Amino acid sequence: MRSRQPVGSDLFISLALSLLLGTSPASHAAGDPKRGAATFAQECALCHSVQEGRNKLGPSLFGVVGRKAGSIADYIYSAPMKQSNFVWSPDKIDTYIADPQQVVPGDKMKYHGLADEKDRADVIAYLSTLH
Ligand code: HEC
Repeated sequence: MRSRQPVGSDLFISLALSLLLGTSPASHAAGDPKRGAATFAQECALCHSVQEGRNKLGPSLFGVVGRKAGSIADYIYSAPMKQSNFVWSPDKIDTYIADPQQVVPGDKMKYHGLADEKDRADVIAYLSTLH
């Protein structure tokens, strides 16, 4: 029975553990494109194709890393995305898929955001392979 241990110390141990795991070298390494492909299939593929020129509810994400935002000619973007003036760097994509509205307020990507940093790194690693 562990009832003698104060609740706080359990919490502390799990916090310390997650901090330890969170700062392990692996989580700072580049994302895993294979894992990213699976996460993409689950989280993004409903609205996005990775085939060049194939738009769904969202624009094709073929070659999106390094592409100017809102620049696919035959896709109808929201006005804020169309008028935005930046290039999709891995960092930009990271903040965007964590919270789309934070990067492009008024954006029309109705996506709740991918909370897990590792999942985002994996998806970005996968997107980086599409050229
Ligand atoms: C519910 C549908 C939906 C889901 C799910 C979704 N998106 Fe989108 N996405 C959109 C729409 C719609 C736009 C166009 C936004 C605009 O014009 O304001 C967009 C735009 C984008 C853009 C900008 C592309 C460009 O040409 O400028 C990126 C990058 C992007 N999405 C990545 C992702 C990733 C990665 C995921 C999964 C983690 C994802 N999206 C999930 C609908 C979605």
